Amino acid sequence: MDDLIKRAAEDLALANNVVALTGAGISVESGIPPFRGKGGIWEKFDPMEFAHIDAFMKDPAKVWNVLIKEMKDIVDTAKPNDGHLGLAKLEELGILKTVITQNVDGLHQDAGNTDVIEFHGNFAWQKCMTCDKRMETINVSMSQIPPRCECGGILRPECIFFGEMIPPNHLLRSRQVASQCDIMLVVGTSAIVQPASFMPVISKQSGAKVIEINPEKTPLTGNISDYLIMGKAGPVMKQIIEELEPLL
Ligand code: APR
Repeated sequence: MDDLIKRAAEDLALANNVVALTGAGISVESGIPPFRGKGGIWEKFDPMEFAHIDAFMKDPAKVWNVLIKEMKDIVDTAKPNDGHLGLAKLEELGILKTVITQNVDGLHQDAGNTDVIEFHGNFAWQKCMTCDKRMETINVSMSQIPPRCECGGILRPECIFFGEMIPPNHLLRSRQVASQCDIMLVVGTSAIVQPASFMPVISKQSGAKVIEINPEKTPLTGNISDYLIMGKAGPVMKQIIEELEPLL
């Protein structure tokens, strides 16, 4: 793995328009469980029963009680790890421009990245399903489930449920930056949920290098990715930055 870390540092040293696509794996070392693989949330709950918009509309209390309340407790205390901090450093070095994240935990912004496309929305905001009023999740009382707006309407997190459309502005901008980058860094995603996992394909088709960081192989490995650094995001990103800085 060390020679691939050196190779990634050399590739990044020559780049100035890197885009990252991240998934739940980059937040695992911050204490947020992934969805798939060992310890994954979908091993405990059926996503179609708890994370589909139809399920939420049918029984918001059930989805709030089982999935959202647990998410809130975890996300409220999570801090960025070396994986997030490494991507923020790449932006500080003028190498990385944009992070496209599938995560809703806001940890990339906390780490310091300033251009983050939240492909699946975010958990920091709630919206009333009757009057559309928005409020920050941190200020929403969990004493009543599902939480309600002053108007009596039920609140929903501004995350994108299965069965909902990716916000068109996020989708269009992601396709655009993916087609213009010189390197696409794919960190901590199982790369099976579309259309997010199509972004590295767009980058590849546009002539970019695609570098994966993941302890496991994904459907991108061996056909879209130039190489996979098999390791955890935190230590790998830390080592890449250590190898990269002397090259600049
Ligand atoms: N560092 C890097 N990658 C890791 C780590 C780690 N420490 N731990 C696990 N991984 C990898 C796993 O090997 C897996 O490939 O992170 C990936 C997590 O995959 P998923 O749990 O499927 O997360 P993600 O790819 O973000 O899921 C996509 O599916 O359920 C929906 O909306 C949800 O945004 C999510 C989407």
